Amino acid sequence: MKAFSNGERIIYQIYPKSFMDSNHDGIGDLNGIITRLDYLKALGVNTLWLNPIFVSPQIDNGYDVSNYFMVDPILGTMEDFDNLVAAVHNKGMELILDFVLNHTSDQHPWFKDAAANPHSIYRDYYLWGKGKGNQLPNNWASFFGGSVWEKDPAGTDDYYFHLFAKEMPDLNWANQEVRQAMVDVAKFWLQHDIDGFRLDAFIHTAKANFEQNVFSKDSTEPQLAEEFYANLPQVQNYLSEFIQELRKLKSDIFILGEAASADIDLVESYTDPQRSMCDSVVTFRYFSDDQDQQFSTAIPEQGQPHKLDLVKFKQTMVKWQTVLQGWSYPTLYWSNHDLPRILDKLMVASDQQNNAAKMLAVLMYLQRGIPCIYYGEELGMTAGILTDPAEFEDPNALEFMKIGTEKGFEHIELLKSLSASHKMGARSVMQWTDGVSAGFSDQDPWLSAKGNGANVLLEKQDPNSVLAFYAKVLSLKQKQLYTVGQIVFDLSNRDVYAYKRSFDTHQAYIFCNLSAKEQEVSLPADCSDLRIQLKSQVKVDHTTAKIKLDPYGTIVLER
Ligand code: NOJ
Ligand code: CA
Repeated sequence: MKAFSNGERIIYQIYPKSFMDSNHDGIGDLNGIITRLDYLKALGVNTLWLNPIFVSPQIDNGYDVSNYFMVDPILGTMEDFDNLVAAVHNKGMELILDFVLNHTSDQHPWFKDAAANPHSIYRDYYLWGKGKGNQLPNNWASFFGGSVWEKDPAGTDDYYFHLFAKEMPDLNWANQEVRQAMVDVAKFWLQHDIDGFRLDAFIHTAKANFEQNVFSKDSTEPQLAEEFYANLPQVQNYLSEFIQELRKLKSDIFILGEAASADIDLVESYTDPQRSMCDSVVTFRYFSDDQDQQFSTAIPEQGQPHKLDLVKFKQTMVKWQTVLQGWSYPTLYWSNHDLPRILDKLMVASDQQNNAAKMLAVLMYLQRGIPCIYYGEELGMTAGILTDPAEFEDPNALEFMKIGTEKGFEHIELLKSLSASHKMGARSVMQWTDGVSAGFSDQDPWLSAKGNGANVLLEKQDPNSVLAFYAKVLSLKQKQLYTVGQIVFDLSNRDVYAYKRSFDTHQAYIFCNLSAKEQEVSLPADCSDLRIQLKSQVKVDHTTAKIKLDPYGTIVLER
């Protein structure tokens, strides 16, 4: 039996390098996490997801694995890992690991052998395409820029395929040995008693025939080619075979799939309860940018924060909630390590940020699904402002700084803009105190970012803090009303996100003001027995049965 049903699960995402340093090197580690489990338990989460912890040259912060059977020494040892799992279980929580199965590092022994010798037994573990002289096998683009093809280091006419960085060659999932090897790795970690996986980039394991180009009228540059390398039907066979194998060893594992570009129909397939698939899926389709936003034309748009379109978000989310009801549990999240933090995307005035953070927690997490809270979000953390442009590890960021400086912008303004719009700004260290290195370490953190002042020490003492509010939201979330209750939406006011949850004889009415203006809503007709469970920035008028929601105000009423 699973410790938690899908509806009960509350996930907390830890970016291990940035959470807590225990051995004074400025890099977060496994023992650091152990020292903070009480904090997580008190917050009310029950499942921890760690971004990759396997041995890695860290070209892509652990998503480039060179040894799947060991913890990266910067994060700790296998013994530390076993201690962490035991400590997490001891607190009644569970642990899932990020599992990188679409690609390895180019430093993995398989690839090193395959790249040193065209006749290597590992050659067919990877994907090779035939070039003609200097002509690439096709015009497909990598997600990290440039072509997916890189010349065979062994000197043949072949090119190897990499969807992400060139140091991350894609595995050939059509090869049964590869599929078996990945099952073996996963079983190794299940034998270390973990409770499941977040499957990285699994939607890319199948690729179309390489002899096809993406049509482009006016460019000879590589083109994104999702139709040829994302969500192909064969992915579902690989996925279900893989998960079935793991469930033979441990039937109750929890599987969170990362399916960034999956639309709702695909998410239904990937979470099909009749097949052994994912329990839930992280899609990036919830969020779109505000098309009316004005950018400075003097500097590249890419380095400027993009505003979330809340109205569009509402339309999308309502659809997902409604369609997946009775099928599977959607992932409920605002931020992760690949996106700017939500408060940076909302762009509310700084004195409204805490109200907005509270409202967003209610809006998202009391819906039907699995909350996935990104570390520090529960404090109202915004992007840390990186002090050195090189830390973005991104040529586009350096270009942005160069252009901005030439146009006369202040260095600090450019860094702020970049940090708030770049994934590295969202990876800055957890803010435990307002002391040295934010209480994260007694050394300079690996990422030299400065926080916005929100920190655990301060917020623990303040009953009105975002942290205190999150704990209340997560405590409510444990009721059946929110874990298994039905959900329906009230779409009558564009700027108010309103829904009702029902279970048995109980109901909850949730109102969230999405705007910077006051909004008025009416209580339901038979409201006399409604109790206020939680509120922030609202005025309730019982005589008129009206609620005035201040900017970004929220209220939860129950009976
Ligand atoms: C998705 C991960 O979330 C991202 O951080 C990573 O760069 C790619 N997969 C490649 O593994
Ligand atoms: Ca450390």
